[in-house]
Amino acid sequence: MAKKLFIKTYGCQMNVYDSARMAEALAPLGYRSVEEPADADMVILNTCHIREKASEKVFSELGRLRALKDERPDGAGPMLIGVAGCVAQAEGEEILRRAPQVDMVFGPQTYHRLPDLVARARRGERALDTDFPAEDKFATLPDRPRAVSATAFLTIQEGCDKFCTFCVVPYTRGAEFSRPAAEVLAEARALAAAGAREITLLGQNVNAYHGAYHGADANGREEGLGGLIRRLAEIEGVERIRYTTSHPRDVDDALVAAHRDVPELMPFLHLPVQSGSDRILAAMNRRHTGDDYRRTVDRLRAARPDLALSSDFIVGYPGETEAEFEATLRLAEEIGYAQAYSFKYSPRPGTPAAEAAEQLAESVKAERLARLQALLNRMQTVFNEASIGAEMAVLFERPGRRPGQVIGRSPFMQSVHVEAAGDLLGEILPVRIAAAHANSLTGVAVAGGPAMPPIGGRAEVRA
Ligand code: SAH
Ligand code: SF4
Ligand code: F3S
Repeated sequence: MAKKLFIKTYGCQMNVYDSARMAEALAPLGYRSVEEPADADMVILNTCHIREKASEKVFSELGRLRALKDERPDGAGPMLIGVAGCVAQAEGEEILRRAPQVDMVFGPQTYHRLPDLVARARRGERALDTDFPAEDKFATLPDRPRAVSATAFLTIQEGCDKFCTFCVVPYTRGAEFSRPAAEVLAEARALAAAGAREITLLGQNVNAYHGAYHGADANGREEGLGGLIRRLAEIEGVERIRYTTSHPRDVDDALVAAHRDVPELMPFLHLPVQSGSDRILAAMNRRHTGDDYRRTVDRLRAARPDLALSSDFIVGYPGETEAEFEATLRLAEEIGYAQAYSFKYSPRPGTPAAEAAEQLAESVKAERLARLQALLNRMQTVFNEASIGAEMAVLFERPGRRPGQVIGRSPFMQSVHVEAAGDLLGEILPVRIAAAHANSLTGVAVAGGPAMPPIGGRAEVRA
């Protein structure tokens, strides 16, 4: 009989991808994914260490799981509990010490060894594996499944060598590593053949991608992200391409040219800036100024005038003055974001900024965050309202809450709700936008309208 596997995912899209691959690695052992932990035979928490709140969730969830594990009926066999992801990587020993109910702890670079970890756990051993192994994790994992949803993630780059002073990622994910281009293209072909129409390329610094070609004629040649996007766009069935998260320092000319030339590359880019103050950017070790960022955005917009932008911001970095915070507000307003994420600075153990003397009071951070979020929300509303009356190509991804409702994405990552009679899931259809809300749009599928190319594009937004 199939065993039940419940995976709970925290953190970034890379964890979402990793969770999918963990499930695939466990399928040959007879595990099938379920939606509830209650009677699961194995529960995995795929965790995030980026901010204090994210990490804290792990131990409270482990408390709940302990109760579930204790309640297992006789004869059901023990519930195996695994902790994966970035908290596991950073605090593996601590988890085993504090949480006796945990059977397996493994990091983002070792989940391909799950079959071995499970075998050890079944023997009653508590297994810890947080190496940074030399072997290619991806080459060891089973092939992608034969059926996937219309939108798929594909990790092409892992780790980070940038060491921003506030950030744990270089410690939890390890050094920057790009998957070989041929391996990425093969996975994209498999995803497209299995039904994916949109592929989002993932990496902590996805535009630092430089995947080698192997083989006799490759001569050590490497492919950057711009070149890789061109090759992906040629794959039959790949109709939309996105990538995240990119770093402003790695936007090279080939990538800008891809935004100009490749219609499959969607006109939406998450390009985190963190702060608008040059002093704070330097203290953060971002290694660019506010004006460098503005110039990068100008180059991208010259190549793709309808490009919509998103960002991450940190407020209340140690020593940030009111004037420096206002520089962030100014930069955000000047760039004009379609959406953005903003966070209070959270001191993370082991990072340089956590040691800084001038930590700001929680109340100052909270007040600045509220002001920045008010501005970002206003900008998002303006952006969404400008879509009213426009016709956009929407890729339908999932059923809505109400019967007959389907939810899809515009080229600009807006979530679009449509009432539809037939089954639109997986379709890319023109939708006339009727109304804008804070976080979504509603629209009507354009019936009998002219056939529209299955891509987003300049001509489609007539706002
Ligand atoms: N690689 C990406 C960021 C990954 S982390 C990049 O370079 O942009 C996602 C976001 O979390 C960051 O962009 C940053 O805004 C936020 N973040 C990271 N560390 C943080 C910390 N210590 N406190 C608050 N926010 C943080
Ligand atoms: Fe963290 Fe900076 Fe690396 Fe992004 S670039 S993952 S913020 S260290
Ligand atoms: Fe979190 Fe790790 Fe992603 S810390 S943001 S899960 S890389």
